Amino acid sequence: MAKHDKTTLGLSTILNPVPVVMISCAGKDSTAAEGRPNIITVAWTGTINSEPPMVSVSIRKSRHSHKLISETGEFVINLVNKQLCKPCDLCGVKSGADIDKFEVCGLNAVKAEGLEYAYAIKEAPVSISCKVESVTELGSHDMFIAKIVGITADSYLLDENGRLCLDNANLVAYNHGEYFLLGKKLGFFGYSVASEEIIKKRMGDK
Ligand SMILES: Cc1cc2nc3c(=O)[nH]c(=O)nc-3n(C[C@H](O)[C@H](O)[C@H](O)COP(=O)(O)O)c2cc1C
Repeated sequence: MAKHDKTTLGLSTILNPVPVVMISCAGKDSTAAEGRPNIITVAWTGTINSEPPMVSVSIRKSRHSHKLISETGEFVINLVNKQLCKPCDLCGVKSGADIDKFEVCGLNAVKAEGLEYAYAIKEAPVSISCKVESVTELGSHDMFIAKIVGITADSYLLDENGRLCLDNANLVAYNHGEYFLLGKKLGFFGYSVASEEIIKKRMGDK
């Protein structure tokens, strides 16, 4: 068989790899059991606009988090690193209607930049505060479109010029049902046309 001979596949959500994130949220009354801070794992998420920075997250109506986010119009996207990978999986198989996922995972809920109700995960390397602009029913999932209203990052991720170095964050990606640690840097935006000097500066010995 020649290398690029093709097989037709059934229609499915085959776009890969995708980010996997831990979305934290809470009800208007976070002291009540049904409104306590919660975490849902989401893979159907993406950046959809630059100015203003906007994201989408698709969540089934049946999720406890759907109720919380609909109630407050707020959520936080927490990026997942190697240390958070197992808690991330757990938050994707257990419901906040039944357990306190912050407590079970040993994570801390902290005030989220720019938001009134939702909490961020202290242990996450980067937390992105979002305010919902609209909700679109797509079928299985409802797509929340949201504006980014605040971002916090672990200070160790900034270099001496204040540049965010996410390549040091040990981030995790999701590929066809499995979690992967991001690996070898192959290039950077525009490297195909960059000078040797720039490539050496940006890539080092890699
Ligand atoms: C890797 C992974 C990705 C997931 N992605 C989504 C998603 O994009 N949308 C969704 O509604 N549920 C998704 N889930 C399922 C929810 O995270 C899961 O049903 C969770 O228990 C819901 O929590 P909640 O009831 O506390 O909101 C995913 C689960 C895993 C493990």
